[in-house]
Amino acid sequence: MRELPFPRRIAILGSSGSIGRSALEVVADSEGKLVPVLLSVHRQTDVLAEQIRQMTLRNVAEHIKDGTSPPLPRWVVVTDETADRSPLEDLPPDVEVLYGHNALCKLVQEPEVDIVLSAIVGSAGLTSTWSALEAGKTVALANKESLVMGGALLPELAKKTGGRLIPVDSEHSAVMQCLSTAGGTEETGGIAPRLNRIILTASGGPFRTKTRDELENVTVQEALSHPTWKMGKKITIDSATLMNKALEIIEARWFFDVPVSKINVMIHPQSVVHSLVEFIDGSVIAQMSPPDMKLPIQTALNYPYRLDGPAERMDWRKTLTLDFYPPDLERFPAISLGLEVAEIAGTAGAVVNAANEVAVAAFLNGTVPFLKIVEVCRSVLAHHQYEQRPTLEKLLELDSWARKETERIVNV
Ligand SMILES: NC(=O)c1ccc[n+]([C@@H]2O[C@H](COP(=O)([O-])OP(=O)(O)OC[C@H]3O[C@@H](n4cnc5c(N)ncnc54)[C@H](OP(=O)(O)O)[C@@H]3O)[C@@H](O)[C@H]2O)c1
Repeated sequence: MRELPFPRRIAILGSSGSIGRSALEVVADSEGKLVPVLLSVHRQTDVLAEQIRQMTLRNVAEHIKDGTSPPLPRWVVVTDETADRSPLEDLPPDVEVLYGHNALCKLVQEPEVDIVLSAIVGSAGLTSTWSALEAGKTVALANKESLVMGGALLPELAKKTGGRLIPVDSEHSAVMQCLSTAGGTEETGGIAPRLNRIILTASGGPFRTKTRDELENVTVQEALSHPTWKMGKKITIDSATLMNKALEIIEARWFFDVPVSKINVMIHPQSVVHSLVEFIDGSVIAQMSPPDMKLPIQTALNYPYRLDGPAERMDWRKTLTLDFYPPDLERFPAISLGLEVAEIAGTAGAVVNAANEVAVAAFLNGTVPFLKIVEVCRSVLAHHQYEQRPTLEKLLELDSWARKETERIVNV
């Protein structure tokens, strides 16, 4: 596999989001090793303008200090063409502004881009992830929905083009780190012969201790109050239903090419152990760090090097208690759904993902109750026309079918 030199030129897709903002902190802290060449937002052009302004200020300060500051991004893309363009009128002249998803898909293929951080939320992230892999790029994948939808197609595409997928999700980053410290690297013949089991941890979300009856009436505000992670709204609701873990089971299936029977989930309320790997000799290796996405982001952007960075550290002067217990599948049926979808593969991931996105949006705007979210996903999955070996076009077609079908169900 081709190794990327430093400085690395990074495209940050979704720079206005929770992952995008953390990525900009990692880049700013990298002393020029990571250089932002492209940023994208969907509608928040004011946030984008402010991000460029902050970089300009920092560059001036750095330049005065040592003259080695990285330049401003060459391109910024606003994917929603109807977004307010006025905040971008005063950008420095050497920053080119483009609009629309097509522009983004083209730019991620530019030779000037080394790594694409795919941090758009939802199925909207699939086409740009795909384009980047098509051009043989290294993709640091936060947008788990790409892999949930694309399944086997994405690793196959990467293999064909010489592209690479590196996990950003903290659980998958943890698994990658455990595997690489245990001799399970490409260089030593792959992970399969040594791996016995992947154990994905889950905080359990804000409703970890609620009974099924109590879950009937939880509010949007309660669902958005995650106990350990600060994230965008969609993934925060997914964490409350545990649908996030369902998506991560599917993601792990494709990232590490492991059978579903080798993937377990454990609830770990402290969110310090981000996942564990059990090897054939019974040894279990875990990765620990405070719940701060800056670490998995910098791990992916610097891979395979481990460099200093701005992520929070553990405080080893304090007592540390770690709990682990299996999830309650009755109260959180998303876990069983995730295992089933990972096993069925084909078009199942794209359909469940789309149904979930629509159901989550309906929950957020108060039109469906919390417990209905996973129920609706299962029902849409059961009614779709399954295909084992879909094309990208088929997946996008089913994504839009599943959205309409879910809207029909939630509006009845
Ligand atoms: N946040 C976390 O801690 C975390 C952890 C692990 C994995 N992830 C994954 O990372 C991804 C991003 O999550 P997030 O929490 O950062 O989300 P977020 O805070 O909601 O940010 C989403 C980003 O995507 C952009 N966006 C929204 N809709 C879009 C569309 N239709 N087309 C193009 N861009 C669009 C947004 O732009 P505007 O702001 O302009 O709307 C924003 O930049 C998700 O797939 C999530 O599952 C997140």
